[in-house]
Amino acid sequence: MKLTFLGHSALLIEEGKFKGLVDPFITGNSLSETCVDDLVNITHIFVTHGHGDHIGDTVDIAKRNQSLVICNAEIAAYLGKFKLRTHAMHIGGRTKFDFGTVKMTNALHGSGISDNGNMIYGGNPGGFVIEVNGKKVYHAGDTGLTYDMKLLEDEKIDVAFLPIGGNYTMDIDDAVKAADFIKAKTVVPMHYNTFGIINADPKIFKNKMASNVIVLDINESMNV
Ligand code: NI
Ligand code: MN
Repeated sequence: MKLTFLGHSALLIEEGKFKGLVDPFITGNSLSETCVDDLVNITHIFVTHGHGDHIGDTVDIAKRNQSLVICNAEIAAYLGKFKLRTHAMHIGGRTKFDFGTVKMTNALHGSGISDNGNMIYGGNPGGFVIEVNGKKVYHAGDTGLTYDMKLLEDEKIDVAFLPIGGNYTMDIDDAVKAADFIKAKTVVPMHYNTFGIINADPKIFKNKMASNVIVLDINESMNV
């Protein structure tokens, strides 16, 4: 499995014909080094919650690629008006797909969808445990520290993507505690430095962690 960090919380997961994008915030992310045009043959898009820096370019990319969008029921209903293919699921549910399984996890956050100046209800925010070919990736979405993360230890996560930027999510110290709960083989920090208010130094996170942290540069890949 190949994982490519596209900046902020955007992640590309590739295994054979499966090309899954999580939270594809490309347009409007000044740090992004990817164009929506470059994202071809995307089979699936995972949306953790309704905020603009997570729904991002979902509509555009899904339309171009006929991707299946996996998200909560409220966001799926919202995306329905763009005639996208969606699979609605919800927190605690695990579903088999042709590429593997997906479990939706909870997150302590909001999920409102900003739409032409109106705030549309986006259900509860979440994260995903995505299993492909025997490897498990946890994408936490945006969340504060929650003791529920302790339950993820049983999932035997290979790689956990955790927000460290603070203000809207966990900061470095809370992400260290989260990583201790989850006990993933590898932890990758995300959701930092995109905007001034979420500035954080991933090297400090790495230094504070006992377990294995990989700091991925934007557009950098790792193999699992
Ligand atoms: Ni958010
Ligand atoms: Mn966010």
